[in-house]
Amino acid sequence: MPDGDGATASGLTLEATFDAHFQRLFEAARAARELAHAPYSRFFVGAAVLDEQGRVHAGCNVENAAYPQGVCAEGGALSAMVLAGGKRVTAAVVVGPPGPPCTPCGGCRQKLREFARDDVLVGVADPTGLRLRLTLGQLLPHSFGPDHLGPAA
Ligand code: THU
Repeated sequence: MPDGDGATASGLTLEATFDAHFQRLFEAARAARELAHAPYSRFFVGAAVLDEQGRVHAGCNVENAAYPQGVCAEGGALSAMVLAGGKRVTAAVVVGPPGPPCTPCGGCRQKLREFARDDVLVGVADPTGLRLRLTLGQLLPHSFGPDHLGPAA
């Protein structure tokens, strides 16, 4: 995800971008969490991603009676972004239940990596507010990403 020196299209660093948009992302993820379909785990999750145009896209987990078919909140947010024409994630927030911070699962870290650089900040929150703030590189070190495959067809 070439973007030059941590700067975004808006000219802000990724850290400033996260801080500037955290409240919007948090509120979108918290609202999405309220709509989660999690009757089996009762573990409700919402996620929101900020795209390169400054737009917020949200998703929630959607479980299934055939358990492995359930999908995570982060994947839903990324699908919404792609559908809206977003190309890159410049910040993300996940809201889980109170308790141990709901860090994204391994699969979701890889899904985020498709659209986000290592230095993109991911906020981990509960409904009362931010609990942790990590870079994607901290969550998924030495990751495999689109750069490994060269220019996309
Ligand atoms: N879950 C997410 O939506 N995102 C994560 O990163 C962690 C887990 C969901 C999947 C499942 O519906 C529930 O939380 C319990 O694992």
